[in-house]
Amino acid sequence: MTAQAHGSLKPIDLKDPDLYVPGVPHETFTWLRANQPVYWNPETDGGAGFWALTRHADVVAASTDPATFSSARESGGHRIFNENEFPAQDIEASMISMDPPRHVDYRRMVMGGFTPPRLRDMEAGIRARAVNLIGAMIARKAREGGPIDFVSGFSAPYAIQTLAELFGVSEADGDKLFEWSNAVVGEDDPECRASPEYMQACIQQMAGYSMGLWQLRAESAGGDLISMLVKAAQEGTEMSIPRYLSTFILLVVAGNETTRNSISGGLIALDENPEQRERAVADPSLLPHMAQEIVRWVSPVLHMRRTAMRDVEIGGQLIRQGDKVVMWYPSANRDEAVFDEPFRFDIGRTAKPGAPKHLGFGFGEHVCLGQRLAELQLRVAYEELFARLPNLKPAGPPRRLRSNFINGIKELPVTF
Ligand code: HEM
Repeated sequence: MTAQAHGSLKPIDLKDPDLYVPGVPHETFTWLRANQPVYWNPETDGGAGFWALTRHADVVAASTDPATFSSARESGGHRIFNENEFPAQDIEASMISMDPPRHVDYRRMVMGGFTPPRLRDMEAGIRARAVNLIGAMIARKAREGGPIDFVSGFSAPYAIQTLAELFGVSEADGDKLFEWSNAVVGEDDPECRASPEYMQACIQQMAGYSMGLWQLRAESAGGDLISMLVKAAQEGTEMSIPRYLSTFILLVVAGNETTRNSISGGLIALDENPEQRERAVADPSLLPHMAQEIVRWVSPVLHMRRTAMRDVEIGGQLIRQGDKVVMWYPSANRDEAVFDEPFRFDIGRTAKPGAPKHLGFGFGEHVCLGQRLAELQLRVAYEELFARLPNLKPAGPPRRLRSNFINGIKELPVTF
């Protein structure tokens, strides 16, 4: 049953984190879409194996039927490993590892932080941060000369400072949030998670930090996400301290890793497609569409997982109750059955009437809560980068995260 990787003798293993270090293995995904779109991926580390969904239609089908395709921690959760066997199991499931109707209750608690009026209020602050960070990069270059790292100079602090605003905390706390979130998603990259003990220490620090915030907001609430969670608990919902901690961790990771990597990945895409960059500069009305195309192109989240709750057929393949089902977004986002010339980076793609929807933010029940905020950040970042650093470009290859979950860029040297 296992496919040989287009000519290679080794079976394809989408779980292998080394596969993603040179970049997303698009050739492999293209082969799978054409030959084994619902592919049985054995696990070499003792796991039971999983079904890999690589086509857009199958990812949509699994994402829109949570009764059949569960995200719940009790069934295994949203990652390839079984969350219920994860060592840090004293942390309760957050909304991303829940099914309806419970999922909806928890999602509702923080939805108020992402409404259109709220995002409009945030835009000026986001722009000011972009301007400051660009100024700091210019000053650093004047001092030190040579290429500057775009990730630590711009995309990382930009995303994390917005997260600090959402939490209502000082931007100075950004370094801690950055380190913790890298540790949470970096289980396969020793630069991010040095050891299980280090991870445990990060969790304890996050627990201490988030409890301090809880107490402050219990005394005096504001309009931030932490206040919303505390208020939910005070109103007698199911929100408990362990659930609050897991929601805090989810937001720390979801709110910055993805945005950071889409901004860095977007810069590479624009450099490789200079005519698209010229088009964007000439017609700023295309920038909201460019933000969407960057997320399709980069697919900052590589996969999410579900568990089959009954025997079910998908893409013509029978899946047994209890099987793991993993949805590969970079593959769905290059599906030639859905996208016209999927391997062309086209910043006007979504400006065309009836343009298909990319799945970079997921789809259905768990579709990204921060989608509009991420798009806003991408648009504003590039408005300011184009205006202030017209010659900004990568000065060498990126250094990538070793991960099968986050399409991460750890370093990207740039000149301007
Ligand atoms: C380019 C940036 C982003 C990408 C590519 C992205 C991607 C995703 C994806 C694929 C999911 C679906 C999970 C699933 O189906 O199991 C998701 C969920 C989620 N995202 Fe994002 N995300 C981004 C930015 C953000 C931001 C800025 C925030 C908040 C500050 C955020 C908060 C969340 C939350 C809370 C969920 C869970 C929603 C639920 O379970 O109902 N994301 N995101």
